[in-house]
Amino acid sequence: MDVSEAIFSRSSIRMFKSDPIPDEAITKILEAGIRAPMAGGIERWYFVVVRSEDKRRAIYELLKKAHVLYATKVLRTPYPEESVKKWIARMEAGMYYAPLYIAGYIDLGSPRYIDEYSDIERIFLYQSIAAAFENMILMAWSMGIGSVWIGVPLFMREEFDKVLEPPQGMELAGILALGYPAVQPKLKKRKPLNETTKYI
Ligand SMILES: Cc1cc2nc3c(=O)[nH]c(=O)nc-3n(C[C@H](O)[C@H](O)[C@H](O)COP(=O)(O)O)c2cc1C
Repeated sequence: MDVSEAIFSRSSIRMFKSDPIPDEAITKILEAGIRAPMAGGIERWYFVVVRSEDKRRAIYELLKKAHVLYATKVLRTPYPEESVKKWIARMEAGMYYAPLYIAGYIDLGSPRYIDEYSDIERIFLYQSIAAAFENMILMAWSMGIGSVWIGVPLFMREEFDKVLEPPQGMELAGILALGYPAVQPKLKKRKPLNETTKYI
């Protein structure tokens, strides 16, 4: 699959088969991730690869909790009760339970920018790891492995850190759930270009 086909055929996958992802594929995904551009040319990212069943179960339980928190307590207009119930039912049926999770951390341990620009430094680290995540997502997809980028763990980082045990000074930036798709992906529509771009 070439890059263009990977980009235009990918969509988020949230229901996975239980088949494990071969080690060589995991390595290829991680290597694609760290080929991404990174701010300052310094690799201030760290990835925790979650394969063991007990850790995956623990992450899945937390993901369910984090999604409910998001739907009911984070949004200014929370999801209607009925939608939350349906979402919980889908999660209880296995949505987000994956044979592989990759948690991405940014290294805030040794700041390089002066205090005045520390917010920009943090943004750059997030942008860098976002580029790494996208590389991983596309590399995985090119091998038939679906994924979803999950942001809700950021609303309860401490609980995820207890399971993931990152090195000191790291901040959780997101989690990718990966696996072979259990359902055929549907492409989600995008606004037409003329609504989101202008030429000058
Ligand atoms: C920063 C970020 C955070 C996201 N967080 C979640 C999440 O917590 N749960 C989830 O189901 N999807 C999450 N997604 C996936 C988006 O919902 C999805 O990419 C979007 O709806 C577009 O659909 P598509 O990826 O199928 O094109 C996230 C995506 C990004 C980029």
